[in-house]
Amino acid sequence: MENKKTNQLKKYAINNEKKAGLTTNQGLKMSEDEFSLKNGLRGPTLMEDFHFKEKMTHFDHERIPERVVHARGVGAHGIFQLYESLESFTKADFLTDPTKITPVFVRFSTVQGFRGSSDTVRDVRGFATKFYTDEGNFDLVGNNMPVFFIQDAIKFPDFVHAVKPEPHNEIPQGASAHDTFWDFIGQNHESAHMIMWHMSDRAIPRSLRMMEGFGVHTFRLVNAEGEAHFVKFHWKPALGVHSLVWDEAQKIAGKNPDFHRQDLYEAIDKGDFPEWELGIQFIREEDEHTFDFDILDPTKLWPEEEVPVKNVGKMTLNQNVDNFFAETEQVAFHPGHVVPGFDFSNDPLLQGRLFSYTDTQLSRLGGPNFHQIPINQPVCPFHNNQRDGMHQMTIHHGQTSYHRNGLNANQPQPVPVEKGGYEHYQEKVEGNKIRGRSDSFLDFYSQAKLFYNSLAPYEQRHVKNAFSFELGKCKCDMVKYNAVDLINHIDRQLAKEVAENIGTLLPEQNLEVNTTKKSPALSM
Ligand code: HEM
Repeated sequence: MENKKTNQLKKYAINNEKKAGLTTNQGLKMSEDEFSLKNGLRGPTLMEDFHFKEKMTHFDHERIPERVVHARGVGAHGIFQLYESLESFTKADFLTDPTKITPVFVRFSTVQGFRGSSDTVRDVRGFATKFYTDEGNFDLVGNNMPVFFIQDAIKFPDFVHAVKPEPHNEIPQGASAHDTFWDFIGQNHESAHMIMWHMSDRAIPRSLRMMEGFGVHTFRLVNAEGEAHFVKFHWKPALGVHSLVWDEAQKIAGKNPDFHRQDLYEAIDKGDFPEWELGIQFIREEDEHTFDFDILDPTKLWPEEEVPVKNVGKMTLNQNVDNFFAETEQVAFHPGHVVPGFDFSNDPLLQGRLFSYTDTQLSRLGGPNFHQIPINQPVCPFHNNQRDGMHQMTIHHGQTSYHRNGLNANQPQPVPVEKGGYEHYQEKVEGNKIRGRSDSFLDFYSQAKLFYNSLAPYEQRHVKNAFSFELGKCKCDMVKYNAVDLINHIDRQLAKEVAENIGTLLPEQNLEVNTTKKSPALSM
């Protein structure tokens, strides 16, 4: 970051070539880097060996905490360009000017496994995109499936505790085939739709380049006149959607745990740049209540035949990272990073996410200044009265660091607040304070069934095999029975076959949901 002080020091900077050679962090050239300083050649190492201490101390602190979820990931740089102006829907600069090229950084991830786990496990994939727009960073922090396991953010810690390896023995790594996972699913029928996607081939992508992405939640786009539309975001891969089969996925996981990471890196390295189209579904504010599901419910998708996806632009990933840690590991996405023309909905899962990301990054990236890490900085200038804190990299100047100060009367205010900045959409909200869930969120099974019905017979067989494999690893019969009970609400025949395969009872009563609608699911 340029400022008076760094400029002042710059004039003394020494030509790097003259200074070549290994130095300490204080710039001291060292002539020996393989032997520590000793008292005699055999020994003991001396306390005064500042070079040894500095080198070792830095090494001792090289690791930072991995992400609490989505720990394993891979990232790449690219560009986004719009097809035609969306000014009737949004005032966001990067969505209204088709000549503008917006740099992006994308990180793909698995959810459950640790940083060193295998790529081809059965799991949801994260698909997070940071748009470095002229008006600030906009993050679209999505997944490769259009719905989610739970409806309310307050359940997320419970859900993740159930998904992660079990706490007493930290088994299993990188898989959802265990009792706590299925216990949670069996007791939370709101997961019904997502678990069908999770047991489908969508959970074992052939390549990260062949995955769709979804913003999942309902967001708002707001135009210059202040009119809003509800929207959902999609990424459609130019290469189409392709999956592995389970047997391939398992073998690859053993033979090359970096399969997806390497595939993406090598494709970009040789100029075979992956592309996605950004798609948007729009619902007018006045149509909010015209569907047979609640558009605020993140376990529901918007049927594409009822709400078509408009493809609005293209993203190309065209550059690998220079350094995995500095970029992929330190990037900090947040669904609350929006620009003018974007706003949120009252989806209770989204509302909770708006708290969680910065909160976790404060400990993962060590304090409140991680926005200064190069990969997280916007391309536009940023300035405000926030000061100090761990790892402060900016030398702020001036006497004042508070809003509405009188001391700088003769100088420009250090931080003017400008008109035309971000303004929240003025939604009218009223109601009693209450913990609970709207009745409009209670149809857990219809879209799950419609998704299952949309699959080809071989895809349905894969789903049955996936349930049988994953539940077959569970030890507790109650857990297995409850999971079959959940399937019994979606498809009786599937429940029967899975129950037989895993050696548990089929509930006596057929509770299969009765839906006559055509499939809303996207084709596989
Ligand atoms: C990562 C929380 C739901 C997509 C994370 C992280 C947290 C978190 C704490 C780690 C962030 C970091 O260390 O930088 C939550 C909570 C959720 C939720 C509390 C629900 C209440 C979702 C949903 C999606 C999603 C519904 C998809 C639409 C992602 C992605 C990442 C992530 C893609 C990885 C970002 C990266 O690559 O750095 N989430 N999450 N999450 N989450 Fe969520």
